[in-house]
Amino acid sequence: MRNIVLFASGNGSNAEEIIKYFKNSEIGKVVAVFCNKPDAKVLDRAKNHNLPSVVFNKTQLNEGFVLEQLHQFQPDLIVLAGFLLKFPESILKEYPKVINIHPALLPKYGGKGMYGMNVHQAVLDNKEKETGITIHYVNEHYDEGEFIFQKSVNIEDCKSAEEIAHKIHELEHQYFSVILSKLLS
Ligand code: GAR
Repeated sequence: MRNIVLFASGNGSNAEEIIKYFKNSEIGKVVAVFCNKPDAKVLDRAKNHNLPSVVFNKTQLNEGFVLEQLHQFQPDLIVLAGFLLKFPESILKEYPKVINIHPALLPKYGGKGMYGMNVHQAVLDNKEKETGITIHYVNEHYDEGEFIFQKSVNIEDCKSAEEIAHKIHELEHQYFSVILSKLLS
């Protein structure tokens, strides 16, 4: 049984889908949720599933506290599920298997500042006909690690960034856990 540690910053709908999916899995289980926002909804979700959580700030992420906390959970896989801070190289050195989900078809709409609704607004502003999701390994550069999976969706009927976000969340919930499970098996 492999240990999965989730990192999330906000709502945590992806985190919860992954927690639920791996409750019925013989391959892996979620052992903790790490979060950089003390009032994030993902922390309530973790609690409801009786999972330990670790809350930290940006300094603690970059200066050892988070790495120390990770040791006790012995992660085989770290998953960024809506985690909006840059993941530090110091942690990647010890745990190179870190996976991120990005709400667009990278390399388009990636890089610093491109997260969550910012991405969907930019996609809308550019009148894109399609967008999608990218699941990829994390490296030392924002959104530049090796791609694992991409899926596109037509958004010609979307009139707002919220409508695009809704379609993207549906895709994320459909595919993210399945891809993680394949990676672990
Ligand atoms: C997701 O759409 C995820 O792809 C995105 O944040 C959202 C979090 O939703 N991540 C990024 O933008 C990372 N650059 P959730 O909190 O409901 O899972």
